[in-house]
Amino acid sequence: MHEPHRKAMSSLLKRCQPRHDLYTVFGHCMEAIAIAIANSVDLRQRERRETRYLEIVAKYGADIVATFPRIMGELVMALESELGDVLGALFHDLELHNKARGQFFTPYPLSRAMADMLLGDPATMRATIEERGYLTAMEPACGSGTMVVALADALRTQGINYQRHLHVTAIDIDPRAIHMAYAQLSLLHVPARLIVGNSLSGEIQEQWFTPAHILGGWTARLASQPSRRTAIETIPPVTPVQSKAVRENDAARPNAPFAMPRQLSLF
Ligand SMILES: C[S@@+](CC[C@H](N)C(=O)[O-])C[C@H]1O[C@@H](n2cnc3c(N)ncnc32)[C@H](O)[C@@H]1O
Repeated sequence: MHEPHRKAMSSLLKRCQPRHDLYTVFGHCMEAIAIAIANSVDLRQRERRETRYLEIVAKYGADIVATFPRIMGELVMALESELGDVLGALFHDLELHNKARGQFFTPYPLSRAMADMLLGDPATMRATIEERGYLTAMEPACGSGTMVVALADALRTQGINYQRHLHVTAIDIDPRAIHMAYAQLSLLHVPARLIVGNSLSGEIQEQWFTPAHILGGWTARLASQPSRRTAIETIPPVTPVQSKAVRENDAARPNAPFAMPRQLSLF
């Protein structure tokens, strides 16, 4: 049951009012949580992110900063109780979707039904996993990550350990969405590369690697399957890369079987 934890997160976040804007504090809280997780594993980006973390906490009094780890604790407990899109639901509970000019996330039961449809025939899916070891998924507009969480949930229901047999690339143009998705996918130990960028133009601003991606050696694992590499997966993992570099990379591999999907897809 997520609800008690969502209520607790909601009331902790609302303590910032009226001194601060709730949408801004929510965004900063998500970013601080994402940095706290990323900095435990992604050492190459650690220094820059640590500086950003200190910038965020300097904006608030100690009472508000102290709510951030408590909010993260509630998120952990919610995800331990049940798989689901806790942060997407919280975003809507707080009515931040209105503030974000209509950024609506898919309700989890619908995402879950779509994940079952996407997986399709269990025998084909199992054959792919047996042959290659894993499935790869691309979510080009991930929001809070509901579709990816639902995909992991659907695999688990079929008896497949998504922590070992699924790798996800997820993109969103809004850094807040990436921070939410990153926190949830990291806590669920989904191997994933999350990208702040534009799925239509290929422009990339930042990349976030979940602990499951880094600890599982997924960069090397994916690179050893060149025919399955996507344009985004060929990008060096650390420094922010501009779209020009992406195009040059693609030009070097004219036959690469890549086309950006418009929705969550397995490939
Ligand atoms: C309607 S929400 C859906 C999110 C998620 N797929 C879901 O089902 O809940 C659309 C998301 O697409 C993102 N978005 C819009 N244009 C984009 C673009 N060009 N590239 C990447 N993400 C984009 C928005 O920031 C938003 O989070």
